[in-house]
Amino acid sequence: MGRHRKPRTHRGKGPVSTLQKQQRPRKVKLRSVQNFGHFAQMIHLAVRFPDEFASGRRDRKLVSEAASRLHWGAPTSLPDICDDPNISLFIKTDDPTPAQLKRFGPGGLPRWLLRREFKNNLWREALLRQQWPKWLVMRFADVVKPETQQRILSIWDRIKPFIRYPPTELQRSRSPALHLGIWSLYCLWPYITADSLQKIPMAHKLSAASLKKARERQKLVIEGLDEILGIVRAEVVPVLEPLMREHAPEGDQVQSAIHRRVRRLLRRELRLRPNLDFGGLFFTIALKEGCSEFLHIDWNDCLHRFAIIFCMGDYDNGEFCTPQLGHRIPLPPGAVLVVRTRLLAHCAVSGAGRRLVFTCFTDSSLLARIVTGDYAFL
Ligand SMILES: [Fe+2]
Repeated sequence: MGRHRKPRTHRGKGPVSTLQKQQRPRKVKLRSVQNFGHFAQMIHLAVRFPDEFASGRRDRKLVSEAASRLHWGAPTSLPDICDDPNISLFIKTDDPTPAQLKRFGPGGLPRWLLRREFKNNLWREALLRQQWPKWLVMRFADVVKPETQQRILSIWDRIKPFIRYPPTELQRSRSPALHLGIWSLYCLWPYITADSLQKIPMAHKLSAASLKKARERQKLVIEGLDEILGIVRAEVVPVLEPLMREHAPEGDQVQSAIHRRVRRLLRRELRLRPNLDFGGLFFTIALKEGCSEFLHIDWNDCLHRFAIIFCMGDYDNGEFCTPQLGHRIPLPPGAVLVVRTRLLAHCAVSGAGRRLVFTCFTDSSLLARIVTGDYAFL
């Protein structure tokens, strides 16, 4: 048997090769850590405000370009930011510099805000206030109770074999995700996502018996999804709302304006599927089993809103990895991660076991069309 040789790493002598530089994890120091009893930790990282993906350009190549230019290394080999999975975390970076602000537009304002006439000036002010979030990432422990997780997982097991998935987004994961709820992607008006409706493709080509079977499966899946979303709506959203109001209140006004408009436009649809209305905290849930294992940006998310992520299952060592923050953030079952997924490139890893992940977000075009009445890349 041949001896297993460890890969060679640089030991401080001689020049460092590009490959060694790329493999070496970038170390980000902590500028300050404040503990609040055993319950919360506030962490200020000694790293610049992440603006790499904040300009109007939406290009998947930007992530790989930034990874090689900034020598991010493998995101999964980053150190954990905290060992204790049971405390709340509030994580921030340095504030944006004047040079970074210019990148967003003259006077620190995003160009798209200056270009467009807002119907309501209060919305513009609310958006401007929330440009620079106080916290880039927040983690709240033990939000989704084990009983709630169990109920959701048993419904998921019942409908899983019959779910109709969209094509897998290979830039972020090997496994497909369902997008449930409301968005206005590629369309002028908000609408219920195709995955929520589980439409039967090419129904006219199916025989009467196959069509009947397909319809039965569709009904079963829709009922199961509605049941899961109903549990989220009744048991998770009411816990999240006060947390978000307390720690990220800036976007409330805009978010409720979008919610009012969506409810008015989709009155009939939401009367039939009330569980697709999440009360304005978010409008879409990406639901999948597994991880998004490839480094990516959620380009469809709103730049000015947080994504809310929670997982359930019996998996070990679930981590959310962000090279821009130089750390991995442990995300155990039941915890909630509130994070700017449109600013921070990210991927997730987990050990053995099952992981059902809910990523709740507001898509950028929904906000742009409703607030400005026009199309804008945020
Ligand atoms: Fe993502």
